[in-house]
Amino acid sequence: MRAQSLVHSPMANSFSYHNGWLHCEEVNIKSIAKQVGTPFYLYSTRKISSQFAIIKQLIGSMDARIYYAMKANSNLAVLRHLHNLGAGFDVVSGGEFQKAIKVGSNGSSIIFSGVGKTKDELELTLKGNIKQFNIESFPELLALNEVAGQVGIRAPVSIRVNPDVDANTHEKISTGRAGDKFGIPILRAAEFFQLANQLEWVEPKGIDIHIGSQITSVDPFKKAFNSVAKLVMELRQGGHVIDFLDIGGGLGIPYNHECDTPFAIEEYFKLIRDIINPLDCEIELEPGRFIVAEAGVLVSEVIYEKSAERNILIIDAAMNDLIRPTLYSAYHPIVAIKKSSTDQPLRIYDVVGPVCETGDTFTRGRELPSFNNGDLLAFLNAGAYGAVMASEYNTRPLVPEVLVGGSHWQVVRERPSFQAMIEREKIPDWL
Ligand code: LLP
Repeated sequence: MRAQSLVHSPMANSFSYHNGWLHCEEVNIKSIAKQVGTPFYLYSTRKISSQFAIIKQLIGSMDARIYYAMKANSNLAVLRHLHNLGAGFDVVSGGEFQKAIKVGSNGSSIIFSGVGKTKDELELTLKGNIKQFNIESFPELLALNEVAGQVGIRAPVSIRVNPDVDANTHEKISTGRAGDKFGIPILRAAEFFQLANQLEWVEPKGIDIHIGSQITSVDPFKKAFNSVAKLVMELRQGGHVIDFLDIGGGLGIPYNHECDTPFAIEEYFKLIRDIINPLDCEIELEPGRFIVAEAGVLVSEVIYEKSAERNILIIDAAMNDLIRPTLYSAYHPIVAIKKSSTDQPLRIYDVVGPVCETGDTFTRGRELPSFNNGDLLAFLNAGAYGAVMASEYNTRPLVPEVLVGGSHWQVVRERPSFQAMIEREKIPDWL
């Protein structure tokens, strides 16, 4: 069975045109834009459910659980939906931990990842009876041992190893090569376990890897899984207990159907079944992007169409709202909310935001339908690492987020008023 059959079936597609207008599930996006104003992020609960269901189905009877990497999209409504579906959470900060608790999760369904957990965060999550700390260095392990001793709770630990595998993804999101800041070198894992076992308040129980994000070939996963399987066997021979195996996230999605051809997810699961499952560990999966990317769009309005040297579409969304194009040269499909007729000529556009930087460019030289001032458009596949990476640069308010479920929709994060933004800052009396 190929991924195409599961992932990209028309049933799984929650964004489609009806009567000439783009809808999210049963809701006309134009009517949301009218009430909420642009720009805004829009998410489909149905698409999140169907992506989650694909992974659940492929897990089948394996002893494996999804710990959704909430850094991809941590809106509380999205988290509540995933919690209702049975997801645990992978968190990377005290704030994310609090969000997981807020949506009804509990410590036993939460894993704490990241290279720089502070003592305050360690204390907060220990007291919250977190399932596991993915530890990335010896100083971090010592800090955890100290904090755990102070609060009197033994800390469950997995060691993140760096398998020295190149995930062949964008430089900025590759994490598993020797020299990347993550994990401890796989060759030093046995030594690390020995040291860890001498500490009173930490309990090493597992291994963790995460080699990068938006990975579009299974080969790096295969290499990393094989190295980690070998390591688990060696560690067990050395008398160490390895009950948990966290294989991270990283599954790529097809941002550009014309040139991105990620592997079929079934191939990834075949590797898990063949290499990881026989190790008889509890398997922990940390997908982020795969679950939410295709469930979200960023809707924006054309402010001006300016034609000089080039045709430039100036829209009301900017790099502060969706930073992926300028940060990673990422491609997001752009579609018109009102379907253009097939006899309308296409035009070559640069699509830019209002921020005062040339880097505030979403795309250059893209063939698109003709747009006029006031037309609406959407960036597709913006549900992951979109709203969560937004900033208020140029004193632009964070854009609202809207969740659709069938024919219902609701604003799940409001656009702050300028007044609220300005009131957060204080002018000292002495100025
Ligand atoms: N687990 C760990 C430890 C991670 O660091 C990450 C992502 C994930 C899981 C989830 O990976 P995913 O399944 O989403 O690929 N801002 C970048 C992506 C950064 C990914 C960071 N780590 C982007 O917009 O492409």
